[in-house]
Amino acid sequence: MSLGNHGVRRVEIERSVAGKVLGGQADRRKFFGSATVAALSGAAWAKFAYGQAGDEPELPPTPIPVRPFQTVLPVPPVLQPLTSRNGQAPFVPGSAFHGIAPEFADVAKYSQFPLKYYTVDMRPSRHEFIPGVKTPVWTYNGIVPGPTIKARIGEPIVVRFRNRLSVETSVHLHGGHTPSHADGYPTYFIEPGKDRDYFYPNTVPMHNGKLDYSESISTAWYHDHAMDIAGPNVFFGLSGLYLCTDRIEENLIASNVLPRLDVPLVLCDRRFNADGTFYYDMLDHDGAIGDIFLVNGKVQPKFQVQRRKYRFRILNGSNARYYDLRFSDGREFLQVGNDSWLLPFAMPRESMMLSPAKRADIIVDFSDAPSVVYLNNWMAQSSGRKPDGAAITATPLMKFEVVGNRVRNDAKVEKGTPIRPHVPILASEIQTTRVFDFGRSNGSWVINDQLYEPTRMDATPKLNSAERWIFNNNSGGWWHPIHVHLESYQVQSINGQAPPLWESFKSDTVNLEGGTSAEIFMKFRTFKGPFAFHCHNVEHEDLRMMMNFNVVE
Ligand code: C2O
Ligand code: CU
Repeated sequence: MSLGNHGVRRVEIERSVAGKVLGGQADRRKFFGSATVAALSGAAWAKFAYGQAGDEPELPPTPIPVRPFQTVLPVPPVLQPLTSRNGQAPFVPGSAFHGIAPEFADVAKYSQFPLKYYTVDMRPSRHEFIPGVKTPVWTYNGIVPGPTIKARIGEPIVVRFRNRLSVETSVHLHGGHTPSHADGYPTYFIEPGKDRDYFYPNTVPMHNGKLDYSESISTAWYHDHAMDIAGPNVFFGLSGLYLCTDRIEENLIASNVLPRLDVPLVLCDRRFNADGTFYYDMLDHDGAIGDIFLVNGKVQPKFQVQRRKYRFRILNGSNARYYDLRFSDGREFLQVGNDSWLLPFAMPRESMMLSPAKRADIIVDFSDAPSVVYLNNWMAQSSGRKPDGAAITATPLMKFEVVGNRVRNDAKVEKGTPIRPHVPILASEIQTTRVFDFGRSNGSWVINDQLYEPTRMDATPKLNSAERWIFNNNSGGWWHPIHVHLESYQVQSINGQAPPLWESFKSDTVNLEGGTSAEIFMKFRTFKGPFAFHCHNVEHEDLRMMMNFNVVE
């Protein structure tokens, strides 16, 4: 096997669907460590991965002609709970093969018994991203993106995820406060053919003896997190939104501050083969970059809007692509949420850089808009290493067709409108400082010169303590969006400067451009570990730019 010249491999998930081994994936498993090859050293896989550094093959463009704005934007359906029979729970939480969080036994401490029960089947399906082209996919309940889970703070739910795929999976609720066992820890696999019950308490931490609603999550998402193979699992379709609400947000909607019209926009890029299968290179360390732009699983869709305010929950669901989003007429919009959290007040924006995994909750007022407005991407990116820079021409991701007259009594939100109170983490609360360098060593992705090791705990913060973590990216050649599980964090500074306003409250993903250092404050208040933190370029994560922390009492 020539490891130096891997070229580009096709992965046809069709083959695995047919029950045969997934070619590229088996290779990746074999070479990149797993339960069976845990001891692979960085040097061992450095050779073949970067044997041709600086000489990568050009990626072939998707050889399927695409006409934009033909398909109406779909909105993923909301997952419906199972109905209970005679007041009995529809299934016994924890009776699934892999059981349920041990914290479940302790549930009274956090909230109450699960109020809703769901099942989600992970199974192969086919999806038309491009009209007339059926692409084999891996799905939650047969659809891409997966069904939207709607939850409410204080109302625990249990979701039984049933793995009917041929690969291991692990489901992470990104941006949630979730017990370790139900958090999609990279090796808490759901084996093929098996089920796991995920307990989502939808809880908030305590602050001075009271529930801290500044920590209520709003726009979260769930996606695969299986060690080594989250990249392909997510790329092939395993992600969906998890929208959670609470009384503060409900009141803002009921009092017509926030618009009722609330539309998720899941942005992804993908590359296709001529036969409609996905093109995914299992041996590309840099990160999968597509040349076809999808919103809610459709190539450059169109969407009809009235002359009024809309709320859009934008998720960058791409594995490695960054976006610089602007509207075609340069219109200003309001940002009301960053990642899982609503901001303290609505902030005006004209453009917005979104790194992989980031969410932005925005309000767009179409009342004075021209009849056609595009949501454009101005960031050019040809490899997963980092964006190339500002694009010369914009790529329209979707088209808004604005119709009708200005709507009266529209939602009242405007610049500065209070949204969700923020409880800051103070410097005086910090007990421990930890430093993490995101880099490369012997050609592999590492943090503090170490490859991910699922049984090694790299930090052990104390429950109810606050810590300062410093994330450094000393390389100019790559960008890394860093995500920490379990709790939100407060970005204190980036390269010694205060972060932009919208980034200075609660976040769960912060981007490290080349040569960047970010300082974050974080409080560990909800659950004991273990949990992961990592680069959210999903290929970097798979290829071991990840660590664990164990929250201990
Ligand atoms: Cu969205 Cu650990 O990931
Ligand atoms: Cu990275």
